[in-house]
Amino acid sequence: MAERRVFTLSQVAQHKSNKDCWVVINGRVLDVTKFLIEHPGGDDVLLEVAGKDVTKEFDAVGHSKEAQNLVLKYQVGILQGATVQEIDVVHKEPNSKQEMSAFVIKEDAESKSVALFEFFVPLVVATLYFGYRCLTRTDPVTY
Ligand code: HEM
Repeated sequence: MAERRVFTLSQVAQHKSNKDCWVVINGRVLDVTKFLIEHPGGDDVLLEVAGKDVTKEFDAVGHSKEAQNLVLKYQVGILQGATVQEIDVVHKEPNSKQEMSAFVIKEDAESKSVALFEFFVPLVVATLYFGYRCLTRTDPVTY
């Protein structure tokens, strides 16, 4: 269950440094200090609005559902006077299995012999050709 400690906006305003950064989004008070370096939009945008209600800025960016869920992860309380829905959750397990697909190129004995064949056949043909040309040469050799 999310934290439901109640804070005033002036209490939130005390936390506005990169070592201690809080914001309010939709009535939820969030401690985003640890999230600063992870924020895909950069830590500077968060630090610019640190200690404030950033709901408008957050919405203006059009954050994804995943970003909205992340908000819940950093909740430390709620803003005094705000009505906040009791969680609509959804955190993906960090180690939840994700499917991956890949092609494996097998280097088996058969493909090796094909490669050898492709190399040697032109070599043998070329040698035979030059050998034949040498043996059937008719012009006299002048010294
Ligand atoms: C603590 C609350 C926040 C969380 C959890 C969060 C999370 C995220 C995430 C996950 C993204 C990647 C894109 C996406 O999934 O939507 C993102 C991008 C971004 N966020 Fe936030 N964000 C928060 C607050 C803010 C605030 C307050 C601002 C603005 C003042 C902001 C500005 C941006 C910007 C500019 C991007 C980059 C958008 C882009 O390049 O397309 N974020 N944020």
